[in-house]
Amino acid sequence: MKIAVMPGDGIGPEVTAEAVRVLKAVLGPGQAMELVEAPIGQAGIDSAGDPLPDATLEAGRRADAILFGSAGMPGDEAIPFAMRPGASLLRLRKHLGLFANFRPAFLFPELLGASTLKPEVVEGLDLMILRELTGDVYFGEPRGHGINARGEREAFNTMRYSEPEIERIAHVAFRTARMRQRRLCSVDKANVLEVMQLWREVVTRVGAEYPDVELTHLFVDAAAMQLMRAPKQFDVIVTGNIFGDILSDAAAMLTGSIGMLPSASMASGTMGLYEPVHGTAPDIAGKNLANPLAAILSMAMMLRHSFDLPDAAGRVERAVRRVLADGLRTGDIFQPGCERVGTREMGEAVVAALAKG
Ligand code: IPM
Ligand code: MG
Repeated sequence: MKIAVMPGDGIGPEVTAEAVRVLKAVLGPGQAMELVEAPIGQAGIDSAGDPLPDATLEAGRRADAILFGSAGMPGDEAIPFAMRPGASLLRLRKHLGLFANFRPAFLFPELLGASTLKPEVVEGLDLMILRELTGDVYFGEPRGHGINARGEREAFNTMRYSEPEIERIAHVAFRTARMRQRRLCSVDKANVLEVMQLWREVVTRVGAEYPDVELTHLFVDAAAMQLMRAPKQFDVIVTGNIFGDILSDAAAMLTGSIGMLPSASMASGTMGLYEPVHGTAPDIAGKNLANPLAAILSMAMMLRHSFDLPDAAGRVERAVRRVLADGLRTGDIFQPGCERVGTREMGEAVVAALAKG
């Protein structure tokens, strides 16, 4: 098992350290494992003058899986793209072909009260957002800044999808739905955008190969509304890069805290990058306040999807359930009557819970 560990910036190092601690505990000393730590984001700039140093990209290429923390710094957007800490993740996704981004939104019964939505709306919530991750307006050319014919400054990006890109993510989506409740909702904006008309046409055509999966379509604005109104109607949602970015944050909040949600970004095959959805949270970085459970659950996804170790993954997930049931909470999911703990204590508690099965 060759794993590249990229802790990155903000709370990334703290939460990744707990994921690694739990990883070592669940596999035990008998499992041969090579962990290669590589700097990324501001950490990459500090150590090698580049947010995505060549050596880090190389470590990612050689690994079977990447455990990623988070990258980015406040004020990032003012820095040119190539030197921007937060953009290192985008470059890594593109270079490694990590096109299929799985973002589950799963409500732990213990956290029912943590959601801002009414309990009956979110109780039992279990949906999967599959976000295309290497195309769309994120990477489309042309992009840039210029001066228009009237002499005014302007800036532009291009929303683009090719037919093979849509086909590839559509197949992943239908196969994912097959392993769940066989319901797939494709989200687009086909009423306005040509690129999204192609999206809908191709997803529908691919769907003919999966007659056992029920396919529906929603425009993204309606999908956002339905996610808030009645999120349990969804099983798998497949959508493009930018709509997936937005909808997955919204879906995360249904579960009470973005601090709980893992993600997997897969290339074709079993290579994947595993990352908590939450980002750098600079305001609480270095204070032992961050919730490490999303990073720990991302590591469990790695065991399942890159290393075909569903039993070990299940043990980690059960251990997380157990610490929540025992009333341990970091600040982001704190509820009266629970015990407030820090990042390290939460990681230690998960390790202790593993021992109980
Ligand atoms: C995400 C993030 C990234 C994205 C940022 C940090 C570039 O918001 O993974 O959802 O927009 O993809
Ligand atoms: Mg996002």
